[in-house]
Amino acid sequence: SNEPYDAVIIGGGPGGYVAAIKAAQHGLKTACIEKRGSLGGTCLNVGCIPSKAMLNNSHIYHQTKHDLTKRGIDVSGVSLNLPQMLKAKQDSVTALTKGVEHLFKQNKVDYIKGTASFLSPTRIAVQLNDGGATEVDAKNVIIATGSEVAPFPGGAVQIDEEQIVSSTGALELKHVPGKMVVIGGGIIGLEMGSVWSRLGAEVTVVEFLGGIGGAGIDDEISKQFQRFLGKQGLKFMLNTKVVAAEKRDGKVYVQTESAKGGKEETLEADVVLVAVGRRPVTEGLNLDKIGVEVDPKGRIVVDAQFNTTAQGVKCIGDATFGPMLAHKAEEEGIAAVELIKTGHGHVNYHAIPSVVYTHPEVAWVGKTEQELKAAGVQYKVGKFPFSANSRAKTNVDAEGQVKFIVEKETDKVLGVHIIGPNAGEMIAEAVLAIEYGASAEDIARTCHAHPTLSEAFKEAAMASYDRPIHF
Ligand code: FAD
Ligand code: NAI
Repeated sequence: SNEPYDAVIIGGGPGGYVAAIKAAQHGLKTACIEKRGSLGGTCLNVGCIPSKAMLNNSHIYHQTKHDLTKRGIDVSGVSLNLPQMLKAKQDSVTALTKGVEHLFKQNKVDYIKGTASFLSPTRIAVQLNDGGATEVDAKNVIIATGSEVAPFPGGAVQIDEEQIVSSTGALELKHVPGKMVVIGGGIIGLEMGSVWSRLGAEVTVVEFLGGIGGAGIDDEISKQFQRFLGKQGLKFMLNTKVVAAEKRDGKVYVQTESAKGGKEETLEADVVLVAVGRRPVTEGLNLDKIGVEVDPKGRIVVDAQFNTTAQGVKCIGDATFGPMLAHKAEEEGIAAVELIKTGHGHVNYHAIPSVVYTHPEVAWVGKTEQELKAAGVQYKVGKFPFSANSRAKTNVDAEGQVKFIVEKETDKVLGVHIIGPNAGEMIAEAVLAIEYGASAEDIARTCHAHPTLSEAFKEAAMASYDRPIHF
């Protein structure tokens, strides 16, 4: 029909598809325009989900090969079937993207398969994937076009997705490379570097900064993380930048220099992973025409209610400010719809967790020590090592620690940093604590089941204002 939609969402990633479902649930006539041919965006198709499939299965392979004998499990003839591992990954992706499509049907979201561009703030042209074009009218539009791999500055490293790959190519390698050079020691570099290292590659991570883990990681945790990954065989060149990469005789030669200039070196690799960040996708949307402002980093400018500079047009997720995380995009999707429907909606940016899905996992929420020092905030630290936690010990998986940072005066939780088994699940408890404005004592006086890893969380809280029992 030609009746305008109440809400049109451009992009079917975690931001867009969640916004579309929530809008429909609230009784808005809703359409979601997605050009990829499947729903779920970067996250489900080439991001979170396939990377976690490869991380989980490469971990099981590695553990089976190197860690079972001492547990009383003798296995022999363990070998890698890479095509099957890639198929298992693809099966997870297909199941989940189809699942979102099913949710669209169930919630009566119109799924328009095509590429959107604005004719006006309330009228959108769509080039349909299977030919032809259409136009839709919208009372409200949410831009959720996400992000893409940032190309290497100046084109000095050209991605071919075979030998010089982005994360997308690194999820599809047909053979385990002998030598792999990873450019960038952020989350993508460490997760994908771990995958191929476990499967047998000799991995060297080149990182411009003095530490690994990307933005927001606590310095102490970052150092410990590097040590653990080092023991697993990953090599690190910190304070070093890649300046160029050249393909020659079936190899790639990666040119590095010290971050401060000087000291040059050339690394030989079979495969190079470029993981130097991502940038917003806005090309082709015709933003100029409707007056949507974009900042120098390519991010769509929004106010606290996700309004762009065009009336009735909002933007959420990777395409605008903030951490490029799926759960952040989802929260914004819901808040943006609530703002449309009721005038009220909110995301607490102080309580957004980060998780690195390596082994052990690394997870954090809130402030780091270095941030609090820089801001002149008085704080106390409480730590508890997994080596003193009964369950971690029993599981023979006891590397790492829980670290609480609390306000000195009040014991209010300011930040929690975990490196250790199941850190990614455990961090939820810290997020809840911060969301509720809990003190460390609130957590330490909350009964935690024995024997569980979560007792390490409780004892770290206790350690921040009193003394823990088991350490
Ligand atoms: P996207 O997921 O990028 O979706 C945007 C969609 O919009 C795309 O499908 C695109 O095709 C579509 N689109 C763009 N322009 C148009 C147009 N003009 N018309 C129609 N459609 C359009 N985050 C986590 O939280 N946890 C993780 O474990 C994690 N792992 C990751 C691993 C990798 C390898 C990568 C690359 C990313 C990972 N991320 C992870 C980040 C996460 O994928 C993103 O933060 C998230 O997908 C952002 O959601 P979004 O909805 O804003 O955008
Ligand atoms: P990133 O910004 O996290 O890390 C890039 C790193 O590359 C930085 O540490 C930077 O200093 C370094 N670098 C840049 N240029 C360099 C050069 N020339 N030589 C050497 N080092 C250089 O970006 P990344 O890892 O590509 O990830 C992109 C986004 O995807 C992140 O924002 C992240 O939030 C998201 N993501 C999240 C995951 C998760 O939540 N588990 C998993 C994967 C990605």
